[in-house]
Amino acid sequence: SRPALIDGFGRTVTYLRVSVTDRCDLRCVYCMAEHMTFLPKAEVLTLEELDRLATGFIKLGVRKLRITGGEPLVRKGVMGLIENLSRHLKSGALDELTLTTNGTRLTEFASDLAKFGVRRINVSMDTLKPDLFRKLTRGGDLAKVIAGIDSALAAGIAVKVNAVALKDDNAAELPDLIAWAHARGADMTLIEAMPLGEIEVDRTDQFLSLKDVRRELESFWTLTDSDHVTGGPARYVTVEETGGRLGFITPLSHNFCEACNRVRLTCTGTLHTCLGREDASDLRAVIRGGADEAGLEDAIRLAVDAKPEGHDFQIVRASAPAVARHMSTTGG
Ligand code: GTP
Ligand code: 5AD
Ligand code: SF4
Repeated sequence: SRPALIDGFGRTVTYLRVSVTDRCDLRCVYCMAEHMTFLPKAEVLTLEELDRLATGFIKLGVRKLRITGGEPLVRKGVMGLIENLSRHLKSGALDELTLTTNGTRLTEFASDLAKFGVRRINVSMDTLKPDLFRKLTRGGDLAKVIAGIDSALAAGIAVKVNAVALKDDNAAELPDLIAWAHARGADMTLIEAMPLGEIEVDRTDQFLSLKDVRRELESFWTLTDSDHVTGGPARYVTVEETGGRLGFITPLSHNFCEACNRVRLTCTGTLHTCLGREDASDLRAVIRGGADEAGLEDAIRLAVDAKPEGHDFQIVRASAPAVARHMSTTGG
């Protein structure tokens, strides 16, 4: 078989995140600016093109595929893409086909996702307070997300709830959120806010180190290191009191780049080999330019070879964001 995708630092890339749209039905304040210009349709890959690119990566050794957005479930026809991609699960080429979603449309799609082989999903939900949820998402309805999570669980899909830790907004509520997820049988992961794209507020004001959060949680809970691995960046503990799993994603307080296994494809076919860097390769030009499979393979290898060593995120007051693009472009 062909050699795996290995970057210039010896890291093997086995995890592809595919953003299928830059649009979202929510607009989280830390993720998007108040006024965003969305991509014109001609720029966006067709579902067939997305399938072709994802399949190219799978042929080169990618074993885990995560569909992201924007919000992936607002992309028209996305379930057809997921159904098609599930052929790689059946053939054994892929270990996991999954998605990261804001949950608003899960009541509609959960049972089909289960049918197409999705075993586990990550749902972003930063608060259990309807008013705060409306504020953080600029108008979202928390009840829909909770109903979505319950639909997924009822369909037999494991759920991980993702929350970005925000100093003034949800810091005090994090224990309740964790306990809520664990009571439903869901995992929970906390994420440090990352400086991607210009937003209206100074991110410094909202940044909360998960080192501090962990210390606080340990004042009333027993956290035991867990060897749970997902192939993602979170490091897990078990909360002995709830019996549930809690993950920490700490790009700022503890950089995890040396073990990085992932790259990101946007809905325009741009490959970003690091979330925290501007590096980009235009795979749309490669396939629309008529490249055959070997040509695509060469372009992917070339890009992966140049994957940066890691990000340089810093929380410095009023500093420019580390990269110009918003998280909604790469889906995290
Ligand atoms: P699992 O498969 O459940 O481990 O998921 P995941 O953590 O790989 O994916 P998810 O979409 O849930 O990502 C959660 C958060 O982690 C998002 O905010 C991502 O931006 C962040 N994240 C994921 N991968 C990386 C990474 O390589 N670098 C950085 N800095 N953040 C990442
Ligand atoms: N920093 C950290 N996480 C972010 N997300 C969106 N923007 C940011 C940011 N600037 C999260 C979402 C979702 C995941 C895909 O990324 O809340 O859980
Ligand atoms: Fe990998 Fe870049 Fe994320 Fe570091 S910041 S873990 S190198 S994608």
